[in-house]
Amino acid sequence: MSGYNYTVSNSKKLLLEAEEISKKALGSAGAWKNLDEIKSQENKTLGRKGSITSILKEIKNIPPEERGNFGKSLNTIKVSLEKAFSAAKEHIMNEELRVSLEKEKIDVTVPAAKHSLGGIHPLSQVQRKIEKIFTSMGFSILDGPEVDTEFFNFDALNVPTDHPARDMQDTFWMSKKSNDSNQNTVLRTQTSNVQVRAMREFGAPLRAIIPGRVFRNEATDATHEIDFNQVEGLLIDENVSVANIKGVMKDFFSAFFEKEITVRLRPGYFPFVEPGLEMDLSCIFCSGSGCRICKKTGWIEFMGCGLIHKNVLKNGHIDTDKYNGFAFGFGITRLVMMKYGIDDIRLLRGANMGFLRQF
Ligand code: PHE
Repeated sequence: MSGYNYTVSNSKKLLLEAEEISKKALGSAGAWKNLDEIKSQENKTLGRKGSITSILKEIKNIPPEERGNFGKSLNTIKVSLEKAFSAAKEHIMNEELRVSLEKEKIDVTVPAAKHSLGGIHPLSQVQRKIEKIFTSMGFSILDGPEVDTEFFNFDALNVPTDHPARDMQDTFWMSKKSNDSNQNTVLRTQTSNVQVRAMREFGAPLRAIIPGRVFRNEATDATHEIDFNQVEGLLIDENVSVANIKGVMKDFFSAFFEKEITVRLRPGYFPFVEPGLEMDLSCIFCSGSGCRICKKTGWIEFMGCGLIHKNVLKNGHIDTDKYNGFAFGFGITRLVMMKYGIDDIRLLRGANMGFLRQF
């Protein structure tokens, strides 16, 4: 008798048991929903304390003549289980990857969201056009302060304190005085505040336009705002005449409206020009035949201008024996309204995108 505890039938029993375990485990494979379930099955059978592992451990008790067969058969069962578990794991991982990729999927054929590039405000568009035309005629473009001293906005322009002309442009007085001259300061009422500044800075001869924002203390309505944009023009040279104003402005307006424009002059009063003039344009809508816009007159009142007053030239340190000049000033805001037929000035300072997108 051998000293082994197992008989032949014992080793067969163990193999049958192992086959049973394997069958059961594989039979449930279709129900494994995730890695955890597979791992727990794997642990139960092939783990350190798993059922197949403990059968394997019995090999030392199998009689040597059966050990070979027993070992081989059990190994076959073990390998097929291992294969099943790793195939199932791979399948689950592939599936999880597929699901997460599906979530991240980008459909490159979907049309992109439209980007809005924005646009240039009509006031700026018109200002640029004005600048282009005047620079082509040899004018430079100057800038000046929106908060200025009483001197440059009024006194230097021949409008002393208590002069009735100050009433024409009611303004906002600042509570703080100017740092360097201890003068009263105002929000400029006109771009004319740059006239004397420009003369002092550049002297004669001089050709310049000064676009900018101006302020008036007014009740607002469809045609009045407390701030609007103007363009000042200055030309200082020898023997400048009213004919020069007319010629330059006729050329400017014709270039601006891209059609022949006629201008006419009437007397007007501005203390800083002598003679002071008002310029009218032939109506851009009816070309002078008379319509609703020009109130059947064929003309549109447009701007103030004139030959620069000697006192102003002197304030600008210009040699008045040699030089004289003309000045004009008009509202860019007004020009924009005319060009596009805008009937409410307030739209130009508002942020109504429906309105602004039209330009
Ligand atoms: N500054 C004047 C105004 O705002 C316009 C003007 C400018 C008139 C230059 C004559 C000369 O009304």
